[in-house]
Amino acid sequence: MSIYLDNAATSFPKPLSVPQAVYDYMVNNGGTSGRGAYEKAIIADGLVYRTRKLLAQLFNHPDPKTIVFTSSVTESLNMALQGLLQAGDHVVTSSLEHNAVWRCLKTLERDRQISITTVPANQNGETNLSDVEAALTPQTKLIVFTHASNVLGTIQPIAAIGKLARQKGILFLVDAAQTAGVLPIDVKAQNIDLLAFTGHKSLLGPMGTGGLVVNCPNDIHPLISGGTGGDSAYEYQPDYYPNHLEAGTMNVSGIIGLGAALNFIFEVGPENIAAKESDLMAYALEQLAAISDIELYGPRDPQKSVGVIAFNLAGVAPDEMAYYLDQQSQVMIRAGLHCAPSAHRLIDTVNRGTCRIGIGYFNEKSDIDALINGLNAYIKEKKK
Ligand SMILES: Cc1ncc(COP(=O)(O)O)c(C=O)c1O
Repeated sequence: MSIYLDNAATSFPKPLSVPQAVYDYMVNNGGTSGRGAYEKAIIADGLVYRTRKLLAQLFNHPDPKTIVFTSSVTESLNMALQGLLQAGDHVVTSSLEHNAVWRCLKTLERDRQISITTVPANQNGETNLSDVEAALTPQTKLIVFTHASNVLGTIQPIAAIGKLARQKGILFLVDAAQTAGVLPIDVKAQNIDLLAFTGHKSLLGPMGTGGLVVNCPNDIHPLISGGTGGDSAYEYQPDYYPNHLEAGTMNVSGIIGLGAALNFIFEVGPENIAAKESDLMAYALEQLAAISDIELYGPRDPQKSVGVIAFNLAGVAPDEMAYYLDQQSQVMIRAGLHCAPSAHRLIDTVNRGTCRIGIGYFNEKSDIDALINGLNAYIKEKKK
């Protein structure tokens, strides 16, 4: 049986209720959302709204209408960054960003003359609040931070940064790709103006789903314009939400699947999901540390990290390791830079990359055992 340990890329398997909900909608309904007065379209619209409400509940956001759906967290981040930043604006960001943030910022630096300051982090990916504060200038319009690194797993001090941003009157955007569904997120208490999330990782929903929680609705220009199903004679994108940032026919089947995934998360309890992943993380760290010639990166502490562990074996290329584990042990892990080269610069692996395991809710200790057996088998074979 093959073992999936790449949940930081995308979660697998999904709760069965997710494909069932998608199937049920596609076979028995098929209506579009916001665009029909017939019963099936009204039902589809209600199901989309239900997912918005569940997300609002999960993130403690008071108004479901200002949660907009996108196709991915990449699109959500582009929507926020491109929709907010103008020539002369200054942005403060972490040393750990995924290219979904970093490439977008670099493109805006080149094309719109924004300026960027990257806050330093230590080798474990830990950031000091005082360094965030020191990076602010009178031109700082936005602080954008990942909630947790997808390379080192390190959780960033989001609540403290949010408080600082609010005190200084600066907007705060959080990339919750690695945390939504597994770490508590409260956009009100944590002073988050914009929360970008994806549906297909820890939220356990289908690919092609994501969104942006908007607490500064008047500040963002739409990324795209187009049909919304209402006010069609008006020649510009409407100002009201969610239509302001949602143009074109939506991914109704995916959003309904995401709704089923959110129901599953609420049934199990987000705190129980986090506790299970944290236990597995502690077990994996202990087992991995016992392997000779292994280099483990990141805080190596489940309290400071989501379920992501980057590692290398001395003298072994990460791709070779991942290929061996897949072919010989049926264990799937990730190898490379994971689209986040800046985090690799912190641990000096930008030329080499790392192996990475991503723990998910459906993993068990036996999956970690299979990984460890595979690594030991590789070492034994090499020594022959
Ligand atoms: C921290 C972080 N941000 C953004 C992304 C981009 O996600 P997607 O490709 O689903 O848009 C990822 C995916 O790995 C991520 O880990």
